[in-house]
Amino acid sequence: MNAAEQVGSKRNAGYRAADMVEDGMIVGLGTGSTVFFAMERLGERIAGEGLSIAGIPTSYQAALRARQYGIPITSLDEHPEIDIAIDGADQVDPDLNLIKGRGAALLREKCVCDATRRMLIVVDQTKMVDTLSAPVPVEVLPFASASVSRRLTLLDGRPVLREGIKKDGPVITDNGNFILDCDFGAIADPRHLEAEVASIPGALECGLFTAYGEKIVVIVGEEKGCRIVS
Ligand code: 5RP
Repeated sequence: MNAAEQVGSKRNAGYRAADMVEDGMIVGLGTGSTVFFAMERLGERIAGEGLSIAGIPTSYQAALRARQYGIPITSLDEHPEIDIAIDGADQVDPDLNLIKGRGAALLREKCVCDATRRMLIVVDQTKMVDTLSAPVPVEVLPFASASVSRRLTLLDGRPVLREGIKKDGPVITDNGNFILDCDFGAIADPRHLEAEVASIPGALECGLFTAYGEKIVVIVGEEKGCRIVS
């Protein structure tokens, strides 16, 4: 798939997800290029057909996009239970386990995923894999980044501190933390690994999402249309 085809596939997935949103819904808004297409389409529906929704953005970046597209914003404080959420993923396996977090928004994304009744994951075909194997982003308390790194190494991971675009310091998340991208190779038991990482003091959240298969619907964008996996 070339770059233009990939962008077209992402747009198809995002638009399909946005078309599944109904009037009056509270909508979790993930972070990333694919979900931003969904937000673009939600904006069109709000302006064109008067769709009435409120979004809960998972990052400052998503909040800015929501504002740009005219999507009213609310908060998890106001709505601790969400009707539907739309988010991207970096990898999806056949059991609908996910790796997320290339956009460094995984902590809030997992909060929204946990709070929503239905989770629409929008991806292109390149994200669909037999076995999860991408580096797993782990949001860490800066105070504990070295001790968390050490513990991840003991789990046979190879953690690397994510650096900013200018390579002159770490990426700082919207929550004021660092990200360790931890390569575990092929992940035989994602649920077990997620639990192991969650047990490390200072590891605030990891990008493995293994507990939500029942509420996840994956929308795989293709060059022409979409395929739904649930
Ligand atoms: C951000 C994420 C993104 O949803 C994920 O990285 C996919 O992004 P994109 O749609 O740009 O490929 O998890 O934290």
